[in-house]
Amino acid sequence: MSEDKINATENIKNEKKKRIFSGIQPSGTLTLGNYIGAIRNFLLLSGEYDCLYCVVDEHAITVRQVPAELRRHTYETLAIYIACGLSPEENILFIQSHVHQHAELSWILGCYAMFGELSRMTQFKDKSANNSENINAGLFTYPVLMAADILLYQADLVPVGIDQKQHLELARTIAERFNGIYGDTFVVPDGYIPEVGMKIMSLAEPTKKMSKSDTNVNGYVAILDEPDTIIRKFRRAVTDSDSTVRYAEGKDGINNLMSIYSSFTGKSYNEIESEFEGKGYGDFKTAVGETVSDGLKPIRTEFNRLMTDKSYLESVMKQGAEQAGRLAERTLKKVQKKLGFVLLK
Ligand code: TYM
Repeated sequence: MSEDKINATENIKNEKKKRIFSGIQPSGTLTLGNYIGAIRNFLLLSGEYDCLYCVVDEHAITVRQVPAELRRHTYETLAIYIACGLSPEENILFIQSHVHQHAELSWILGCYAMFGELSRMTQFKDKSANNSENINAGLFTYPVLMAADILLYQADLVPVGIDQKQHLELARTIAERFNGIYGDTFVVPDGYIPEVGMKIMSLAEPTKKMSKSDTNVNGYVAILDEPDTIIRKFRRAVTDSDSTVRYAEGKDGINNLMSIYSSFTGKSYNEIESEFEGKGYGDFKTAVGETVSDGLKPIRTEFNRLMTDKSYLESVMKQGAEQAGRLAERTLKKVQKKLGFVLLK
């Protein structure tokens, strides 16, 4: 086959590829919850789809951030994406604030999201309860910016943890509402939320989601934690007074450890139960800790290398902003035209 023909075939193949968008806030050090609930699925889908993975710094400022820390976490989050195996050659990796169309579309979509809908968002209710001194309008309209992120790229699929499901449903509602008024404008996105790992719980309070904003460091495992720290945190994980490793209602701590172990080993719950038959919780916790620590080790090594090369990370940011910006502009222009805004050539 001639080179041109090969390129043409490749183009047709690429055109058919569906698109993925997802993002993570640089609001702290990323946790095992972010890794299992999001990044691992980003990787899984990366070859099969055209993927855009964003560091959503504009979302992060709905809660007060120390500027130097926000900047550092932004570099770190990008470095973690790459260290986990998301190559900037195969995926568009970028920073949200580098593509101004997110904020512009967010304003527009805010006029198609209802006050009542936003008031019902459970994350808004939780976050405002925890930040009673700073219940700002951004916290309230946060899901509109998230809808803009997704709809701007006409994403077909959005890999997220279960905590983002309600926001995703709102993005679908906004897209359908807009399409209903102006005709087909946005792809209505689906969520990608696999059962195992969709909600990793705190190791200290297994009825609570593992979160990077937890003030108890024993509650979460950071992707960048040292091996000893990881193993220690798993050994201290809160379980129950039973001693059989089995997945069952009411055994939140053990269920959580089983889902983490299953995510890293690919073993089913039945296989895990057989593996630890006759063994106590102590052996199981050590095995989970060692497996997670071994799995994260290469990521930490690559992360440390990348963080010494800021200019490389900046070149990735720049390339990503250009690629994402081109796609974003296409949708924004289409939307503005439909709305009746005057477009200057
Ligand atoms: P964020 O930054 O809180 O979390 C990033 C991703 O990690 C998932 N996640 C978890 N999954 C399983 N168990 C956990 N304990 C856990 N903790 C976090 C989250 O579900 C998420 O997928 N609003 C989003 C960021 C965002 C976004 C978007 C996502 C902004 N725009 C557009 C998708 C598409 C957020 O705050 O995620």
